[in-house]
Amino acid sequence: MSRSATNGAEWWRNAVVYQIYPRSFADANGDGVGDLPGITGRLAYLAGLGVDAVWLSPWYRSPMADGGYDIADYRDIDPLFGTLQDAAALLDAAHDRGLRVIVDLVPNHCSDRHPWFQAALAAGPGSAERELFHFRPGCPEADGTEPPNDWPSAFGGPAWTRLPDGDWYLHLFNQAQPDFNWDHPRVRAEFESILRFWLDRGVDGFRIDVANLLIKQAGLPARASLPPGAPSPYEDRPEVHEIYRSWRAIADSYPGERIFVGELWVGPASLKRYLRPDELHTGFNFPYLQAPWNGPRLRAIIDQTLETHASVGAPATWVLGNHDVTRVVTRYGRVDSSWALDGIRVHDAPLDLGLGTRRARAAALLYLALPGSAYIYQGEELGLWEVEDLPPELRQDPTLRQSGGADLGRDGCRVPLPWAADEPGFGFGPGGGAPPWLPQPAGWKALAVDAQTGGDRDESMLELYRRALSVRRAEPSLRGSDLAWQAADPDEHTDVLVFARGAEFVCIVNFGADPIPLPAHDSILLTSTALTADGRLGPDAAAWLRRTSAA
Ligand code: GLC
Repeated sequence: MSRSATNGAEWWRNAVVYQIYPRSFADANGDGVGDLPGITGRLAYLAGLGVDAVWLSPWYRSPMADGGYDIADYRDIDPLFGTLQDAAALLDAAHDRGLRVIVDLVPNHCSDRHPWFQAALAAGPGSAERELFHFRPGCPEADGTEPPNDWPSAFGGPAWTRLPDGDWYLHLFNQAQPDFNWDHPRVRAEFESILRFWLDRGVDGFRIDVANLLIKQAGLPARASLPPGAPSPYEDRPEVHEIYRSWRAIADSYPGERIFVGELWVGPASLKRYLRPDELHTGFNFPYLQAPWNGPRLRAIIDQTLETHASVGAPATWVLGNHDVTRVVTRYGRVDSSWALDGIRVHDAPLDLGLGTRRARAAALLYLALPGSAYIYQGEELGLWEVEDLPPELRQDPTLRQSGGADLGRDGCRVPLPWAADEPGFGFGPGGGAPPWLPQPAGWKALAVDAQTGGDRDESMLELYRRALSVRRAEPSLRGSDLAWQAADPDEHTDVLVFARGAEFVCIVNFGADPIPLPAHDSILLTSTALTADGRLGPDAAAWLRRTSAA
């Protein structure tokens, strides 16, 4: 199989990875839901966009209680998405185009339909089958009618559900997602076998779902019982690193640099422990995603990120969005783009999509110029916004119900992609098929792939991404790990970031309200929005410059 020509050794250090949410990418069979043949049919688009790899959110057999993050069979494809043959065809077709394929692995929990959990339910309290999960009697003071401890579910409510036989089981997410007991050797052996199953089939890596949650503190102590400042009993436990060391050894035993990227909602001091040379290759850098559109804040996070990663020799990752968070155009379109309480969902502050789009364009040039690997969540390259007005009855994310309506959930960033402006469902599926599983806003007509492609569409978000990725690929200085901040200009604008990569490449971002002069340069490679008539960089804009002579 051929691998990307532009990526040599350690391809993952600089890779641009495109995240596909399979339900919402492209529908080949006309049932209104995206599928694997739909993805295979659109690989030419992704290769043309200029990405190096794709990461697919879960494709496994699943009742879809949490969009596929509830897995009933880790060695099969859900019929909604296709078959194992479709997966093999997708892998081959991607590799033929030089695209690598990273799949999602969900080790913290499975589906309540998983055969192990079904067997545990049938076997009853005290059985060996229940030891593969966390089953407990309820709190003795309440005669077993209250949960065994005070741990909350990330989606709202308690992390425990009671069975008719009296036992409770732990689920840090939905009740249809029972947590595995990672202290059990069978769980460890099973996941090593699952890794090999997919590595044998040619996947290039794994994105590890909630990678910091697997291990629970012995005895499952209540949070209220722990001294103030004690580490969380279920997050970031030190024993989790043994698991990743064993996984790394497995990945390294395969040819072709198979890699891991951890979903790690942890601070920098913790993050770097997961990125030691014998653990995960990369981990998501969420502080950057969570930051508002603010120059000094972003600069501080960039510095801290680079320092943290350099200390363990790992590349940074840069992420603007994913299937769990409000789309970047919408986040940055809030005049105050800082975060609501839960850190990722803002629904009520006034929204200016024009502003958000302008900032998202500048943000693209900023994050694609930083040292390390970059992720694009499907539709970011089209400038899609969060669909915040979906009718509640169409929303499927369990968060909405589990939070008692306090959180609208994540459906708004999962609306099917618009491919063709003049077709039903904007070409998400074949003509005559079912409509997309979530309705697309009429305004996405102008954002469809064909409406943003070629000719006089030079100014489109899609063409900006295509050009940025092609410059990034061609520019040797963007492959290193260096970044040198430069003084902004003689006026010392504090709302401007300027940095050089190598001797020639300069990126400038204007976060302020006034146009600013460009620093000395020989040529302009790209600007996120047109310069002013007198050649200055407007507000919320960025430029890539080449400086060949010492300036
Ligand atoms: C991760 C996934 C999210 C899922 C959760 C539980 O955060 O990204 O979509 O709901 O894990 O698996």
